[in-house]
Amino acid sequence: MSRAAVLCGLGAVLPPRRVTNEELAARLDTTHEWIHSRTGISSRHVVGLGAATSDLATEAGRRALASAQGDVNSVDMVVLATATPDHPLPGTAPAVASRLGLTGVPAFDVAAVCSGFIYALAAGAGAISAQLADRVLVLGADVFSTIVDPDDRETAPIFGDGAGAVVLRAGDPAEDGALLGFQLGSDGTNAGLIQVPGGGSRERSGGRRVDPAEMHFSMQGRAVYRHAIARMSESTRAVLERVGWDVTDVDALVGHQANARILTAVADAVGVPRERAVIAIEHVGNTSAASIPLALTRAATTDGLSRGDRVVLTAFGGGLTWGSSALTWPDFSRVEAYAVEQAGIPAQSITG
Ligand code: COA
Repeated sequence: MSRAAVLCGLGAVLPPRRVTNEELAARLDTTHEWIHSRTGISSRHVVGLGAATSDLATEAGRRALASAQGDVNSVDMVVLATATPDHPLPGTAPAVASRLGLTGVPAFDVAAVCSGFIYALAAGAGAISAQLADRVLVLGADVFSTIVDPDDRETAPIFGDGAGAVVLRAGDPAEDGALLGFQLGSDGTNAGLIQVPGGGSRERSGGRRVDPAEMHFSMQGRAVYRHAIARMSESTRAVLERVGWDVTDVDALVGHQANARILTAVADAVGVPRERAVIAIEHVGNTSAASIPLALTRAATTDGLSRGDRVVLTAFGGGLTWGSSALTWPDFSRVEAYAVEQAGIPAQSITG
């Protein structure tokens, strides 16, 4: 029997501060109606002063590991998808691993923006298939409130902060929870469509002082919208072909929660009935690498997913990057609804 990665733990967390559309409309040239009708978003959560990606990621990881207890009690690899690391270097994954009591295990970041969780999942599943690891914690965590310009009405309403995580273990492809296939891709010719222009080696080697305005997230929304639908649709079709499923076999299509209209357009393009597209963006916004595990946690705890369901995950993000995965849904009776809490402990209290 060939070896496969099997999903056996899931958890997610949001920071407590909730920002409504009305609150944004009070200071930006926008309205609740515009934001809600164009994106499906009513509110989002943002971190408080001093909180960072690792704080949320640690709590999501703790919750995912708790839900896997009995099946998996520890992991031997940690992979963190994030576009908002605590620091430009080192990677944030080793800090998260140590805060979870996992000092010593390999831990690394994956930078594929909103596709990051699928890329990290593929890295974790690949490590299990290649026998580099037997149990892997895969996290997706982002705090876009720290990079979005709060005065930009085109990006500030869209993004929210959050973290989610899954635990993978070695198993076989016939088990519920088995990750059966992946499709990944990228297109660097369109890197400029989603960018934080400053702060990297391109700007620093130019001898200019870092321009604070260039440190904000920028996006060409209309072009991104079109690419997102095209790439997630193509990638979903490709992964279905790879695992030998017909589109009618799909019980749930869990796309990156970028925009509710994008998710229904992808379902329509692929031929999945709209009611099988998981749309869980309304109260969280686009949480980048956290969006798929957050949507999975919500669906798993509101009867949106049942054991044995055939599930396709698909994502698109900056890079450009995209990716999909097909899996059967495991018995997740121990998964808890996502927490809304002041997550984590300050990093200095564990290092100092
Ligand atoms: N409130 C009111 N008006 C706004 C606005 C806001 N918050 N943001 C933009 N507008 C205006 C625009 O300036 C534009 O005005 P104009 O017609 O006078 O030029 C008008 O609304 C329409 O803008 P447009 O960009 O065409 O709207 P849209 O229907 O494409 O929706 C997005 C905009 C950003 C919601 C949409 O393009 C989108 O979701 N893009 C993908 C975003 C995303 O998911 N990014 C991450 C990918 S991983």
